[in-house]
Amino acid sequence: MTKKKYLVTSALIYANGSMHIGHLLEYIQTDIFVRFLRLTGEDVIYVCADDMHGTPIQVNAEKQGITPKEFALKFHQEHKEDFSRFLISFDVYSHTDTPENKKFTDLFFEELNKKGYIYEKEIPVMYCPKCRRYLPDRFVKGICPKCGAPDQYGDVCEKCGATYDIFELKEPRCVICGEKPEKRESKHFFFKLSAFTDDLNKWLNENKGLQPEIVNYVKGWIKKGLKDWCISRDAPYFGFPVPNTENKFFYVWFDAPIGYISSTEKFCKDKGLDALKDYWKNDRCEIIHFIGKDIVYFHFLFWPAMLMGAEFNLPKSIIVHGYVTVGKEKMSKSRGTLIKAKEFAEKFNPELLRFYYASLLSRKLNDVDFTEEEFKHVINSELVGNVANFCYRVLSFLNKNLASTIGKFSENHRVITECKKEFNKIKEHYQNLNFRDAVKHILKVASLGNAYFQKEEPWKVIKEDVCKAHEVVSICANIVKNLSILLQPILPRFSSALEKQLNLSGLRWSDLGFNLKDHVINKAEIILRKV
Ligand code: 2FM
Ligand code: ZN
Repeated sequence: MTKKKYLVTSALIYANGSMHIGHLLEYIQTDIFVRFLRLTGEDVIYVCADDMHGTPIQVNAEKQGITPKEFALKFHQEHKEDFSRFLISFDVYSHTDTPENKKFTDLFFEELNKKGYIYEKEIPVMYCPKCRRYLPDRFVKGICPKCGAPDQYGDVCEKCGATYDIFELKEPRCVICGEKPEKRESKHFFFKLSAFTDDLNKWLNENKGLQPEIVNYVKGWIKKGLKDWCISRDAPYFGFPVPNTENKFFYVWFDAPIGYISSTEKFCKDKGLDALKDYWKNDRCEIIHFIGKDIVYFHFLFWPAMLMGAEFNLPKSIIVHGYVTVGKEKMSKSRGTLIKAKEFAEKFNPELLRFYYASLLSRKLNDVDFTEEEFKHVINSELVGNVANFCYRVLSFLNKNLASTIGKFSENHRVITECKKEFNKIKEHYQNLNFRDAVKHILKVASLGNAYFQKEEPWKVIKEDVCKAHEVVSICANIVKNLSILLQPILPRFSSALEKQLNLSGLRWSDLGFNLKDHVINKAEIILRKV
């Protein structure tokens, strides 16, 4: 049998603005998981891209007097730089305005159309005569028809939470120019989502890789009845043209998830691999999506239905996370609580945000709160105070007093058994995306090491019994090696610096243990300091 493969994705960020620390939660969560799989020897690829299409990007580009593609590519570049700052290790990072993505978008449309899942229908749309453009819900504002609140969007009232049809909005106006928009008729393409009701229910019931609280939620939507989905938009629109039409384009949400597939194709090029045979139509490939809770509808209904209709593999898991709040409140530009990725990286070592998020993340949907005080507390007392100081103390002791050499020791020390007990627990927590508990148990390993070092007092013992002191410090140096492996998914840079100091390279999960003996290490250096 061929080896099992994993294909892991994070949602595609819009190429329409700078990344903030809220976006980073998902990429850090995914990256920790992917690095863990790699560390344990799994065949895994991490696929992602920028989401380039849609009205907001088009309108913003026009304001700047550049083409939407130029506009989006600038953010594509900026996002790539941010990802590398935060050590996100994509195997491929593409975008959705590529020939590959056009090819697969056309293919999906053709397959779904052939099978009768696409139909055309005339529908009313909002049109701004001054801008000469059709307006999506978010480009029309007016008075909420339910509560009378002014300045509300065309689909939902932020005051009372009501959802409504755009034509119910009172005194509507175009967000771009302020003009009163008019109602027009336009013919559009629809995807028959309703035809997938039974198959979606079956998939939700049988797939144990989905979070039960989300499954229940989605089943509630299905129970209310699925509405077919309009997948086209009128020109001017930045997107791919619908074949054999004039002035119709695919809605951004149609080609965005297809970006997962076209990016896989980019990865496969020149590697003798095939995006479909090896991944999207391979029974031995497990597809795992990471998404935020705001895009559940798209990933639990539209996307699986598209995959079913076009006969592609379905995702085995879709991991949904909560939002990042700042001081328990939604991040907000106007309140000054929006922290851009780049700004964070200029102020702090970006790797530390990975540790902070890991210490809070579980498989649950909870929001993750960020405050500078809490961040500093976690880093200073747990990471630096417990882990990093221990590593430096042990390795520099070896340098100064024991000719930089890890010596022999017997395996029947309690501290060794105690540490070993933690390894499997940590593995399980990583596997279950329960990073919070993985961190807790890694810190326990460091605490065991600290307590042992402190109790055995090698700095005193060495004066009378060098052998005894050498044994103690050699055991501690093995704990340092184990910490470097255990922390690798969360803190890849810290771990690799430790590896270098230990004069080792390419450590894997299978290298956990206490077998590093008669080994000369390099010079110890402080890697992390308090913030
Ligand atoms: O909500 C968003 O930010 C979208 N750009 C996510 C797309 S994910 C996938 F479907 F492409
Ligand atoms: Zn207008």
